[in-house]
Amino acid sequence: MSSHPSPAENSTQRPAGKVTVPSLIKAKQRNEKIVALTAYDYPTSVILDHAGVDVVLVGDSAANVVFGYETTLPVSLDEMMLCLKAVRRGLRRALLVADLPFGYGLNAESPASEEVLKAAISFMKNGAEAVKIEGGIQHADQVKALAQANIPVMGHIGLMPQSVHAMGGYRVQGKTSSSADELLEDALALEAAGAFSLVLEGIPEEVAERITEKLQIPTIGIGAGEKCDGQILVLHDLLGLTVPPPVLGQGALKGRKPRFVREYANVKETILGAVQEYAKDVRTGTFPSDKETYRMSEGESEKIAQ
Ligand code: KIV
Repeated sequence: MSSHPSPAENSTQRPAGKVTVPSLIKAKQRNEKIVALTAYDYPTSVILDHAGVDVVLVGDSAANVVFGYETTLPVSLDEMMLCLKAVRRGLRRALLVADLPFGYGLNAESPASEEVLKAAISFMKNGAEAVKIEGGIQHADQVKALAQANIPVMGHIGLMPQSVHAMGGYRVQGKTSSSADELLEDALALEAAGAFSLVLEGIPEEVAERITEKLQIPTIGIGAGEKCDGQILVLHDLLGLTVPPPVLGQGALKGRKPRFVREYANVKETILGAVQEYAKDVRTGTFPSDKETYRMSEGESEKIAQ
């Protein structure tokens, strides 16, 4: 392929310069909303960069939306690495953050701390500009260790999909004043440990607003209301491309959509329609047509016939 599309040309009030960790902190100070999305492959990352998205997260939601696992727990470092490398090739402007998969967010005293550092370093060597870790105050030492190794860390608190079994399902967190206080404590501990931003997932807007006001670092919300410094969605949710596990013989492409998801397109239907049409054209012999077929040079086919 030739040249890369120039990023952010027509996107609303988005400066054309490279997004960096310090520029995100400045965005908070200037009250500029941060636009974040997930991506897992090359073509979508090129499109996201072109659209002026500020932060692209190679989320472990790849487990669900790309690899078809039921939770995010099974996704491996190798699977995440494949996605990261593809996304890296597509980005020029956006800050690229890679999610540490389940099992890498343990605290510094645990034997896994060496492992988390190694995983984060391998992400950085393959083009990540920051890593994300799910977990609150108990992960602060881990965040500190990474920050001290010059690895920018994005925290992630509230509804943490990697803790689905501990939470007893995907449940909104911080609905009571005591749990809201705990979330604030988590947020402050992660900031003090050196996190440069914080994802707030699945928490009431009032709680997200309080945390956002108390922190110097930007908060990026998903299901956390509009008071956060930025918003993130899983790309496949926004595109209408998230599909439930397949059931043979049933065309069930509809799954339960979380309340916070806004579908801006229905790519599932578009792909389904296109593939059904292709199948019909192949079966009826109308694809490929003459226009879609190569011919030998003039006079050559007669020679074969002779
Ligand atoms: O894995 C992911 O996609 C995420 C975002 C939803 C924040 O963690």
